[in-house]
Amino acid sequence: MPKYRNSLNTKENDSDPAISRRSFLAIMGMGACLGGAFSLTGASLLGFLYPNAMKIPPSIFSLGRPEELLSRDGKFFNPKQKVFIETKDGKVRVQTAVCTHLGCTVNMVDTGYACPCHGSTYDQYGKNTGGPAPFPLVYFAIFKGASGDIMVDKNKTSLDWNAAWYSPLA
Ligand code: FES
Repeated sequence: MPKYRNSLNTKENDSDPAISRRSFLAIMGMGACLGGAFSLTGASLLGFLYPNAMKIPPSIFSLGRPEELLSRDGKFFNPKQKVFIETKDGKVRVQTAVCTHLGCTVNMVDTGYACPCHGSTYDQYGKNTGGPAPFPLVYFAIFKGASGDIMVDKNKTSLDWNAAWYSPLA
């Protein structure tokens, strides 16, 4: 007599399959659950093993060739680095777009900058003027790289908006 009886076969001598449909479905269900659990664990483990440094943009980055960058005046947002890049009369300065309260990205507004998260405001130079932001928006050091590109070093900061201008021709 087979070990498992198919519930549809009521007679003992029927040619029962080695495993009943119920057992088969139970095993398949358990397999699907285990597969799902292993997939989740595997994805988490890969995320843990994958170094964070690969996700964070480098703190020193290029703005490109001076002649290209300085060919027009204005201020624009770089979403990858979360900075505002301002060019004027052959000079450039770079300011953080990260709110000093809890790190949201601020927006440019007529009066300067405004944070959409908790309402902090900054003037046109980045000085905090309202809301919970405790500090101004800093400027980053700029230098000419060995390749001739204009480089930004986010490790070196300043609050002096006049000294933050960099002229590659000077
Ligand atoms: S993160 Fe900008 S006000 Fe809170």
